[in-house]
Amino acid sequence: QRQMCIRDSISPQYAITAAHCAPYWGTGDPIYLGQHKESERDGDGCVETMYIESIVSHESYNDWTLQNDIAVIKLTEASQFGYAPIDHLDQPGDGTWHEPGTPLVAAGWGTLSSGGSAADTAQHVVVPAVPDCWETEYGEGYDPDTMVCAGAEGVDSCQGDSGGPLFGIDSSGERTLVGVVSWGIGCAQSQYPGVYALVSPARAWIKPRPRAEAATLHKLSLIHISE
Ligand code: ARG
Repeated sequence: QRQMCIRDSISPQYAITAAHCAPYWGTGDPIYLGQHKESERDGDGCVETMYIESIVSHESYNDWTLQNDIAVIKLTEASQFGYAPIDHLDQPGDGTWHEPGTPLVAAGWGTLSSGGSAADTAQHVVVPAVPDCWETEYGEGYDPDTMVCAGAEGVDSCQGDSGGPLFGIDSSGERTLVGVVSWGIGCAQSQYPGVYALVSPARAWIKPRPRAEAATLHKLSLIHISE
């Protein structure tokens, strides 16, 4: 049985997902750039079908603690459509997106409530950053070096959103990828915000992956994999 996860395209030929999603796919599996509705993927002229060449999980990913829950996917070819709604990867030392309450955006096709059914149309929600997440019920299950929390009662990502983006939008409209949907207990509960893999400490690991294309590794788009 396969799980549904979302990938974020970070350059025409690369995407980011959660490392815990990586085992569910492999070489040759399709990903659909520019998808909006799951049910209307076929016949949607905006959808560009791409294929996976390889997936590499973070070398320090821990599948028990979920530290460093990030993976990079290489596609067999570069996107011709150039979908790229994300402009930057968050940088170490940049506090812009890490003040308590800073509005961030999470997006995906995951369930609309814990145990509910998955969304057909891509959803997004504004979630407040919760950098002091050890003060929640997660306590030490939260690792501030590799994770960041965001969410509040009623606003959260949920099951099936894993691998999707948590991003900030600056005053000029540029988007910075801050996190990757990773885990949570239930969804949208006040003491249990969504937990995201932190992008900034993984940046040095992500960046050298695509060698020749490293210079173009600054764009990201929401993409989705299907079974
Ligand atoms: N692990 C889930 C997935 O695989 C993501 C759960 C996110 N939970 C939350 N409360 N934000 O899709």
